[in-house]
Amino acid sequence: MTRIDLRDVVVTHPDRRRPPILAGIDLTVLPGEFVALEGASGAGKTTLLACLAGLDRPSRGLVALDGVDLRSLSPRRLAALRSHGVGLVLQRDNVLSALSVAENVGLPARIRGRPLPDTQVLEALHAVGLADRAEARPAQLSGGERQRVAVARCLASRVPLILADEPTEALDRHGAGIVVDLLRHQAERGCTVVMVTHDADAAARAHRRVLLERGMIRSDRR
Ligand SMILES: Nc1ncnc2c1ncn2[C@@H]1O[C@H](COP(=O)(O)OP(=O)(O)O)[C@@H](O)[C@H]1O
Ligand SMILES: [Mg+2]
Repeated sequence: MTRIDLRDVVVTHPDRRRPPILAGIDLTVLPGEFVALEGASGAGKTTLLACLAGLDRPSRGLVALDGVDLRSLSPRRLAALRSHGVGLVLQRDNVLSALSVAENVGLPARIRGRPLPDTQVLEALHAVGLADRAEARPAQLSGGERQRVAVARCLASRVPLILADEPTEALDRHGAGIVVDLLRHQAERGCTVVMVTHDADAAARAHRRVLLERGMIRSDRR
């Protein structure tokens, strides 16, 4: 349900002699679109996702969510936007190790002051195939399972925007299909989804495929 606008987004390399990591990205994603962001390793995909999440600030250019320029938000407002309005599935460090799997899934709602019923948490864990791990600690899970906990957290929290960085990377074909179908289903319910992926089968399930090459958009196909 979130509209994304990027205008001339540049992220310079910390080593100024190297070319920029993002070299002028223009992209609009409409509410409810499911976009696959593809590209070779080092193309700038994770950096672009970090800019969308407000985790990274571009050196130049506009990042706007629903018309709100992220530069205009205080750190506090930005943090609030992230906890209420964005579901993140990162490549690693997705979950808090001191909390159980179920507590991690329920955390955004607790931060909002509206804890979820246990059934809603379990339903989301069931959808990602982790219903039997609800009481486990993240340390007992694999990296791929921890990523699926993050997917479950997005589902349970009903966020309007999901940003997922290679969510099928650590999964077999069957598991990858389940996760991509869940993301697609969220988009069909109106959630905007941007999924970074190397997996052509996963990308083919998206509504739109954007290919990044050396920090630039090389192609954009619907
Ligand atoms: N904090 C950083 N310091 C130095 N180089 C970085 C940093 N972040 C990203 N890069 C470089 O930027 C390029 C793009 O990185 P990244 O966005 O992670 O690409 P991708 O996710 O497409 O593999 C890579 O060459 C990477 O080494
Ligand atoms: Mg990456």
